[in-house]
Amino acid sequence: MKTSSYAVARMLGPWREGTGPAHQRLSDKLRLLVLDGRLTLGASLPSERDLATALGVSRTTVGTAYAALVEHGYLATRARARAIVRLPDRAPAPQPATPDAAAIDLSVAAPAAPGEILHAAFASALERLPRHLGQHGYHRSGLPELREAVAGWYLRRGLATTLDQILVTNGAQHAIALLARTLLAPRDKVVIDHPTYPHAIRTFTEAGARLLPVPLGPTGWDAAQLRAAARDADLAYLIPDFHNPTGLCMPTSMRRGLRLGCPTVVDETMADLDLDGTGPEPVAAHLPTAISVGSVSKSVWGGLRIGWIRAAPSLLARVVQARPATDLGTPVIDQLATATLLDQDLTRRPAALRQLAAQRDALLEALAAHLPDVDAPRPAGGLTVWAAFPTPLSSRLAAIAPDHGLVLAAGPRFGVGGAFERHLRLPYALPPDQLTEAVRRLAHARQALTRGATGSHAPATVV
Ligand SMILES: Cc1ncc(COP(=O)(O)O)c(C=O)c1O
Repeated sequence: MKTSSYAVARMLGPWREGTGPAHQRLSDKLRLLVLDGRLTLGASLPSERDLATALGVSRTTVGTAYAALVEHGYLATRARARAIVRLPDRAPAPQPATPDAAAIDLSVAAPAAPGEILHAAFASALERLPRHLGQHGYHRSGLPELREAVAGWYLRRGLATTLDQILVTNGAQHAIALLARTLLAPRDKVVIDHPTYPHAIRTFTEAGARLLPVPLGPTGWDAAQLRAAARDADLAYLIPDFHNPTGLCMPTSMRRGLRLGCPTVVDETMADLDLDGTGPEPVAAHLPTAISVGSVSKSVWGGLRIGWIRAAPSLLARVVQARPATDLGTPVIDQLATATLLDQDLTRRPAALRQLAAQRDALLEALAAHLPDVDAPRPAGGLTVWAAFPTPLSSRLAAIAPDHGLVLAAGPRFGVGGAFERHLRLPYALPPDQLTEAVRRLAHARQALTRGATGSHAPATVV
């Protein structure tokens, strides 16, 4: 796969920040892009001349940076061929993101399962399974029982919904991928929140789409900017309910006026994680053409792998047509268990929400105590704090953190063009004592960076 000079320049973002000669800053930043997974292993880099032109530097600067990467094993070169991205295979080799079981993993924003509740749901599903055993078990739109239960979930949130408006998927990520496959052609333009959920970025990019990132401010979405970007777009993908990674929630007044002029996908994966009781009605209650994506991964357990799309039946028919290219349906027993959970309104459990709010508060308190210069706005819901450091250090922190018993996802994973190097997404899906310890380790890792230490850990899988 060829990576163009302009794509590399965009990923590099403001690479000149920092000290030392330009070629060293460039090779450091390219190395972090490799470690961070943004420069894919096996991809070919642009020629020295093309990258020098795109960056506005001399060919010598790029040549020296490439030579350093070759020397340390991050690039392979052959005569008259482009340099290929690789990882070093001898010391100092990149270590796995999780060096030992005692490391605290802050790359995953997902709760542990509520064991008893899941057990009961599967016991009930097993009892109802025999009714389905006489049939083939393939349901490309999902089991009617679960589609009814999802429609009930919308009704409880104030949005009347019929069974034929629901398609069951294998999680919300699958829903996003199916919609991308159905709605996008190469070179289509997709409006995204900036920052946003990393796997959506990846899905749209791999569909050949061009991304139109619209910045989220400290208080959230800018309606005028969204409308302006959407005028030129083929699709918009927004996360209005307890946004990942910022935790922001779009206010009702804005939901009412959300007419973007292009098909609009709203990802409601976090909708049930309303910690302060402020969650408004679904966007589709105000914008009937909205295509909604939902999931029980964050409200119950990611291991269920159940999500859905709520949309016009005509669009769902197109998605069903496209689906067999990727999969032939969702496991029946898991659908039956999820129907039980939804029918019993177990995706919003007050005790679980109180516990999550206590974890959020413990994380914010630890940040205030150990990293007082970090700006950490209090999210009204969801699973993550979007923390801003005073200086750009996120990728370097993520590369060094496992040496301090911590796994992090660097801020730029949540954006395009190398943005968010000052940010870290910090999930509060762990018990308070672990979160407090994680922040202590984070403060140590940051001190080590300040003393000039560097890390070479491979990127963690972000969820
Ligand atoms: C905004 C958002 N959408 C989709 C997903 C994927 O969810 P699922 O596990 O249901 O595929 C996530 C998971 O982190 C998410 O945060």
